[in-house]
Amino acid sequence: MILRVLGHLRRFIFDRQERLKWDLLLQQVREGWSGNEGFEGESHLEDFHHHELTDSGGDDGHFDLIETTVSHLFREPNDTLNGLTYGQLLLRQLRKRGWFTPKPRLIVEVGGGLGYLARELGKELLPFEKQSMRYISLDITKPFLDLQVSRAKAGGWSGIGACANGERLPFKDHSVDLVIDNENMADMTPVKLTRQELLEGIGDGPQHQEALDWIRRVRLPLGQDLPEDVIFNLGPFRFVAEVWRVLKPGGRAFLTEFGIEEGWPAPVKLPGHTEYEVQYSHLRQAVRWLGFQEHYLSLPQFLAIKPDTKVLCTGAAYTIQRFCQATNKPFTVRAYTEKELQQALGEMLSKLHGCHYHDVADPAWFGLLDFKVLLLEKPGGAPKASFSENKGYRWYSQK
Ligand SMILES: C[S@@+](CC[C@H](N)C(=O)[O-])C[C@H]1O[C@@H](n2cnc3c(N)ncnc32)[C@H](O)[C@@H]1O
Repeated sequence: MILRVLGHLRRFIFDRQERLKWDLLLQQVREGWSGNEGFEGESHLEDFHHHELTDSGGDDGHFDLIETTVSHLFREPNDTLNGLTYGQLLLRQLRKRGWFTPKPRLIVEVGGGLGYLARELGKELLPFEKQSMRYISLDITKPFLDLQVSRAKAGGWSGIGACANGERLPFKDHSVDLVIDNENMADMTPVKLTRQELLEGIGDGPQHQEALDWIRRVRLPLGQDLPEDVIFNLGPFRFVAEVWRVLKPGGRAFLTEFGIEEGWPAPVKLPGHTEYEVQYSHLRQAVRWLGFQEHYLSLPQFLAIKPDTKVLCTGAAYTIQRFCQATNKPFTVRAYTEKELQQALGEMLSKLHGCHYHDVADPAWFGLLDFKVLLLEKPGGAPKASFSENKGYRWYSQK
């Protein structure tokens, strides 16, 4: 069997153009599953998650190849994150900001995918810390939700799931302490508005009117050269309004997704469905209008990732996975430093030529800098003790 694989591998003898070949391969892999044509808005994303994904629970395949996310690439401990997983590092960063003092009693994770984040957040907290906390996974896709609940249990949470749409949260007003939404807002309802609708403020149907009302309410600038039609992130607007409603005073939300800061959102075609960039200057205007205190930064900045750490090209990871499948060798698609790839492949690595590496922040790798973080805080919580930190010690003020 190994000889058969080596035969395959020999065909991959790389020369100066080796880098280009991996990238082309990745492109072909992606084009082979090209997304649907045209605008798939308004109800398609919900239908996709309700119906088309119903058989995809149970393994990593869907997230390895189709809806790959940053947290998925870093679901195992990784040298790039100082030996931590994405979830562990996320929890540490939130803890540093004081988000676990006092402890949130009720955490809701929206759109948890395969549940790795719930597991890893749980692992990072001590059992006694979790005793007084509840963690609810909320997702629109039932098979994913089942995995989320079982992985949350593996992370030491009691494991409760709610099958629902994040645009209509099934929680009472002022009942939640912390909302976590990781790479899900691009899946939420987009609306395509015409120039005429925007200029007249009259929408073609209730959803369009709802979008236009938001635009007017939060005073989004329409800009000078309005195109014939534009896409508006109605779903993310509804979502942040729901987050505002359900959070307790002093409650917080961590939201991250890829997006832009100028212009109007563009579609991102994926196999089976299309996602839409989040327009962050619009969304930030909405959260401020709602009353949130917000902090906005890029995901690598938030995680404090060293931008020049070298990681294996994702195209190479897909291809190696195919070779490994042929020999029944387990191999997961994730971010690999060279040392980690060596550990994963052992002997086989020396037979592979042309595995190339990118700086983790290089747009050619995964576009990490396009992923933004919105940290939201609803005012009105208990007054916080003020302190400054110096060499690991906290100095509390007497005031
Ligand atoms: C791209 S995946 C992200 C998964 C995971 N958070 C991660 O970072 O890997 C989007 C997730 O959100 C869920 N989802 C999509 N639209 C949703 C909505 N409107 N409400 C709740 N969940 C949604 C999907 O089922 C999926 O679990």
